[in-house]
Amino acid sequence: MIKNICCIGAGYVGGPTMAVIAEKCPSINVTLVDSNHDKISAWNGDLNNLPVYEPGLKKIIKKVRGKNLFFSNEIDKNINKSEMIFIAVNTPTKTSGEGSGMAADLKYVIACAKQIAKASKSDKIVVEKSTLPVRTAEKIKDILCKEGKKGINFEILSNPEFLAEGTAIKDLYNSDRVLIGSDNSPSGLNALRKLIEVYSNWIPISKILTTNVWSAELAKLASNAMLAQRISSINSLSALCDMTGANTLELSRAIGMDKRIGPHFLIPSPGFGGSCFQKDILNLVYLCKFYGLDEIAEYWHQVVKINDYQKERFAKKIINHFGGDLKGKVIKVLGWAFKANTNDSRESPSIYITEKLFNAGAYIQIYDPMVPIENIKADINQYWNFDINTNDKRISFSSNNKINEDIDAVAIITEWDEFKYVDYKSTKVFDGRNILKKPFYSI
Ligand code: NAD
Ligand code: UGA
Repeated sequence: MIKNICCIGAGYVGGPTMAVIAEKCPSINVTLVDSNHDKISAWNGDLNNLPVYEPGLKKIIKKVRGKNLFFSNEIDKNINKSEMIFIAVNTPTKTSGEGSGMAADLKYVIACAKQIAKASKSDKIVVEKSTLPVRTAEKIKDILCKEGKKGINFEILSNPEFLAEGTAIKDLYNSDRVLIGSDNSPSGLNALRKLIEVYSNWIPISKILTTNVWSAELAKLASNAMLAQRISSINSLSALCDMTGANTLELSRAIGMDKRIGPHFLIPSPGFGGSCFQKDILNLVYLCKFYGLDEIAEYWHQVVKINDYQKERFAKKIINHFGGDLKGKVIKVLGWAFKANTNDSRESPSIYITEKLFNAGAYIQIYDPMVPIENIKADINQYWNFDINTNDKRISFSSNNKINEDIDAVAIITEWDEFKYVDYKSTKVFDGRNILKKPFYSI
């Protein structure tokens, strides 16, 4: 039986996942460690200011923090005292070197493997929770064997996470499946059994799917690619709806009622965002190219290309409505988060669309109920060719969704519930999420 779990990476996956493990497994001590000291302080601080906003998370943290869930900067100590170590660090797209702009950057994962090797004085089960290119376990094992102390056994399991932000707790409580990939060796199967024991505290055994390590690693990338592909498919058709008078939402309903297709992930949008879909598909594209599968690479690359097209199409819709130029126009942007019910704005379509509107000359007022203004400013600094500190009067931040007289148009980019009930008066609303009954334009 596992008694101590350490998870490296206290972010959007590590935080909620370990909170749920701690809640469901009271006999296991769970410690989240992170190299970011501010984040650990925030996890240990005010419950209303946790680093991750997820419905239901605060309640769990309140219940288990300090009992069997701990947050710490002492990484080596917690690695050494745990029998099972989850790696839940970020795996962004590489920005330099071989595979730049496509491949996943594994530097954080490799740093974890090295740290585990250095700090471990007894056998460890290392669980890949981060989303990784297929065959990463081989690299991790290699580092652990070469750099770890002699006589220590390291087993690697792949246990990718399928939670979606905004519904993380629900998804973790009631997972469609828990996927675990392991080696077929006796020690691999023993490690597998121990992780199954952890999950079986709340997940029915019928939902725990075991595979080989490579299938588990690849299944995660493939699942995200298939989900994103559905969104790009409906978004591509939304362009044809615009031309023909068909209604995208009606189309989506009509398609989704076919049981063989199903209704999920067919909601048209101004493009998908989030930290994972784009990076994971690009990673898949890179892997296909690496193995010489150029046609397959191109097939999946189209999913990202259509997404870029859709973001551009929504921005152009607004700009073209005003004759190709937004000089002097005031546009209220509703929503900065990449979807509702999260404070996460990574890769949000808002970042890209708003930049286009700004570059077309508009005065921009940005409002999001959950993304802190300093994060919005940081996104602008990082992703626009613009320095927010110049205090350009054309960008301002609202603390509410009120539509004042001076606003020429509204762009709804995130589907926050409150945006359904705003009094838009006679302002032209470009509804990127199809949440209003009769907006001026819906995607
Ligand atoms: P995140 O950026 O929110 O959290 C990662 C954390 O790891 C950060 O706090 C960072 O400081 C820490 N970290 C990085 N390197 C470290 C090191 N060497 N030692 C200690 N701490 C370190 O990332 P996330 O959104 O939680 O994603 C983590 C992984 O899970 C990614 O591979 C992602 O693709 C995958 N994933 C994410 C989601 C999601 O909804 N966000 C869902 C499923 C899977
Ligand atoms: C997604 C997957 O749903 C998770 O299973 C996966 O674990 C996770 O990525 C990950 O690997 O990070 P997430 O990105 O948190 O989860 O959120 P989604 O609900 O998938 O939404 C992603 C984007 O697609 C959002 O911008 C959302 O608005 C958009 N979307 C979603 C649509 O445009 N249409 C839809 O029908 C559904």
